[in-house]
Amino acid sequence: MRTISVFGLGYVGSVTAACFSSKGHKVLGIDVATEKVELMAAGKTPIFEPGIQEMITEAHAQGRLTATTDINEAVLGSEISFICVGTPSQANGKLDLKGIRHVCEQIGASLRHKDTFHVVVTRSTILPGTTADVITPALEAASGKKAGRDFGVATNPEFLREGSAIKDFLNPPMTVLGVDDAESEALLKALYAWVPAELFAVPVPSAEMVKYACNTFHALKVAFANEVGTLCKHAGVDTEAVTKIFLSDKQLNISPYYLNPGFAFGGSCLPKDVRALTYRGKELDCKLPLLDSIMPSNHEHIERSALSIMAHGKKKIGMLGLSFKSGTDDLRESPQVLLIKKLLGEGYQAQIWDENVYMGRLIGSNRQFIADNIPHLGSLLTNDLEAVLRECEIVLIGTRVDKAKLESLLQPHHIVIDLINLHKHNRVSHEGEYEGICW
Ligand SMILES: NC(=O)c1ccc[n+]([C@@H]2O[C@H](COP(=O)([O-])OP(=O)(O)OC[C@H]3O[C@@H](n4cnc5c(N)ncnc54)[C@H](O)[C@@H]3O)[C@@H](O)[C@H]2O)c1
Repeated sequence: MRTISVFGLGYVGSVTAACFSSKGHKVLGIDVATEKVELMAAGKTPIFEPGIQEMITEAHAQGRLTATTDINEAVLGSEISFICVGTPSQANGKLDLKGIRHVCEQIGASLRHKDTFHVVVTRSTILPGTTADVITPALEAASGKKAGRDFGVATNPEFLREGSAIKDFLNPPMTVLGVDDAESEALLKALYAWVPAELFAVPVPSAEMVKYACNTFHALKVAFANEVGTLCKHAGVDTEAVTKIFLSDKQLNISPYYLNPGFAFGGSCLPKDVRALTYRGKELDCKLPLLDSIMPSNHEHIERSALSIMAHGKKKIGMLGLSFKSGTDDLRESPQVLLIKKLLGEGYQAQIWDENVYMGRLIGSNRQFIADNIPHLGSLLTNDLEAVLRECEIVLIGTRVDKAKLESLLQPHHIVIDLINLHKHNRVSHEGEYEGICW
């Protein structure tokens, strides 16, 4: 059994307080809104959520849940403080951290009077870096103490949805802990030991970012479904039938596939089909800003890669892989081809190794794409990996390469730029510089 204080008795705070008290912990809620404090102190819920009143009634009757406006009582009387105050948008979209800053100053001022270790855990949604730049400095300044030594600081983003908040809290998709010190980590892991889902204990900025990745993806899914549905309706197609079939594909659609940060998409299908569909949208007078942004986003990824290569100021490039993905000789709309074309245009020298691509075997639209983009490809292409690495300063990994072979050929002066996140769980070991393009 732990003693817990919960700062902010809105949707997240009330559910956090009710659920932890239902797990047998002693919980004290705090809010600047006295009416919320009065409600919880009287055993009544400050918000409506199915099941919350029953939990609060029981915990309150058994003396495990009450509320106060007294910060000292809350901090000195608990081992863990959960921050659940709002983090709204400013008019320009910027995150408003006034509430977070203020509550940290209040908690910090009380920590000044506390001798035992205390853990401050943020449940509010905060951008990566907020703990390091705002929360920890505010707590340290107000307490005169050192985070990680005198008190712990952690993040624990909440994934509940209003309307099913209690169910979500008790059965979350995962538990994410952003922790920097062992004591806070052990305490929080024990607090969540009952959760059936996987627990991830990661550095604080990763935990802060996960919440944004999740919510942005959820928003993206809604917007995608709505734009595809709009197209279906205007094209006279049965949206329900398309959606049902789309959702039945658990291999490529509803799956981790295509969701690992890597290089741009290309090949003979995805760019062509995205263009055709968005063009049809225009013909049907449908505004589809999300679908329309896919090709520009992909183009920007290639541009960004080129800029990160150019930033090194080295002119000799060794490109490993030219086809749009490993295991094919299809060069049509390959982003690797478009990247090399750009670099050649900027005066870079390139040698290209691709074990599947032979000039003499390229025919039809595949040959035409190369004729249109790198007509002198034949003079740059080789199947001698050793020769490419001997000559170049920058090694671009654009296809699957045997790890041991690559490691045996890399020299410390090589700058390795991995375009495809090759061997992501078992990186190429290299004495020189190694960088990814979006990791
Ligand atoms: N609502 C959700 O579904 C949900 C889900 C996950 C995460 N979040 C995040 O959790 C955070 C809280 O969201 P919410 O919907 O519960 O907000 P909310 O507005 O319902 O509640 C915030 C509470 O904090 C109180 N407060 C403000 N300053 C305080 C202070 N100094 N001391 C004590 N209390 C103070 C407010 O009076 C209010 O009652 C936000 O960052 C939000 O993005 C919300």
